[in-house]
Amino acid sequence: MAQLRTPVQRKKKKQYIAVAMIVAFMCLFGIYSFASKEEDYEKEFHIPLVNEQLVVCYENDMDYRKGPYMTTLPGTMDEASTTQRQQQQSTSSQYPAQSNGTEPMIYFVTPTYPRREQIAEIIRLGQTLMHVPRLHWIVADDTASCSATLNSHINKFGIPYTHLASPMPEVYRLRKNAPRGVANRRAALSWIRTNNRRSGVLYFGDDDNTFDLKLFSEIRYTKKVSMFPVGLIGDYAISTPIVRNGRVEGFFDSWPAKRKWPVDMAGFAVNLEYLALSPNATMPFKAGYEEDEFLKSIGLKLQDIEPKANNCTEILVWHTQTKGSKAPTVRISMDRQKLDKVNLGGLLKRLETMGVNHISDAEGTTAQAIMNGSVKPLSFWFS
Ligand SMILES: *[C@@H]1O[C@H](CO)[C@@H](O)[C@H](O)[C@H]1NC(C)=O
Ligand SMILES: *[C@@H]1O[C@H](CO)[C@@H](O)[C@H](O)[C@H]1NC(C)=O
Ligand SMILES: *[C@@H]1O[C@H](CO)[C@@H](O)[C@H](O)[C@H]1NC(C)=O
Ligand SMILES: *[C@@H]1O[C@H](CO)[C@@H](O)[C@H](O)[C@H]1NC(C)=O
Repeated sequence: MAQLRTPVQRKKKKQYIAVAMIVAFMCLFGIYSFASKEEDYEKEFHIPLVNEQLVVCYENDMDYRKGPYMTTLPGTMDEASTTQRQQQQSTSSQYPAQSNGTEPMIYFVTPTYPRREQIAEIIRLGQTLMHVPRLHWIVADDTASCSATLNSHINKFGIPYTHLASPMPEVYRLRKNAPRGVANRRAALSWIRTNNRRSGVLYFGDDDNTFDLKLFSEIRYTKKVSMFPVGLIGDYAISTPIVRNGRVEGFFDSWPAKRKWPVDMAGFAVNLEYLALSPNATMPFKAGYEEDEFLKSIGLKLQDIEPKANNCTEILVWHTQTKGSKAPTVRISMDRQKLDKVNLGGLLKRLETMGVNHISDAEGTTAQAIMNGSVKPLSFWFS
């Protein structure tokens, strides 16, 4: 209840007077209260939250990756003709990147929340991260309890990871413009501090972004804070620092909103030693201002920013987004156990577990089968 102002509360002596006053207040100053909501948000930034939660669900500090594919090793190319060798060299990929196991770690923080697309996004992102050596993936889920389904999909990549459950406090969830992903990122910051990770690089990478693998070699050696363009942001379709003579001098972003650091969450990386200099660094529950306030809280100065991505001329990260649509309900009125005799039993159960669709015996789109061009009821197989 951000509208309840302290002057009103202080005067309240009896409950009914207070209620009457609040009602009158809200009627009379409803418009004013709406307009000044922004100030409330700023005040709330400093209020310690009593109901913040952080559960470490699963952790794996080992790197079990074998690489998504094997390329021909140099020694085994003897039989290839010179022409073939030249072709292979000119077309050979620079990925997976080579590592001697001592490069700075990248702590890649992904806030996520249960929705229909969640598992699909995690799989896509995980397969990108499989190519990145020396990376610890912190996946913070906006849930009160640990999702075993989510974990099974993170775990299989073999990437060192930490799966956190860090729900948004209810007071914010009720808001029209709820600050999504904040509780998650705060939890990740807290995990980094609690586990005393003071070397390496912090990067906030959402599950609905697309990452060019070059991004990782660019941010890995960030000295303080590095910045780079993010594609598909706002009305310019880009959010980027403005760079002249190799220095960041300003920003190009279609939503200035009086932000000192008008950047996207995916548009910067922070060195952990530098972060540790600001033990109070945090992110506010203030939709739209998370990046700005976070970068203010670490005391960032313009001259401390290193432009990456070839002086911010390349786009190595995109805010692709997956447009949410409602999970459909599929109507299956027959005994569902019978479906276990064909693949559909297990398949539909899996989709339901992921929240991709719902099965109902009373409503929704009737499930049908197609055989040799004609539509049959599902029960066709079991009659
Ligand atoms: C490992 O590789 C990095 C980057 O290529 C290099 O700076 C470092 O010196 C190497 N360390 C060892 C022990 O080879
Ligand atoms: C960025 O620009 C500066 C100044 O023009 C130049 O010295 C530097 O080499 C450039 N960096 C890259 C990666 O191109
Ligand atoms: C962090 O916050 C505490 C409590 O508000 C304060 O005493 C301390 O000076 C702050 N530290 C820094 C480095 O700002
Ligand atoms: C599929 O339909 C075609 C033509 O409608 C028919 O000739 C064929 O026998 C059918 N095949 C099976 C397996 O039912």
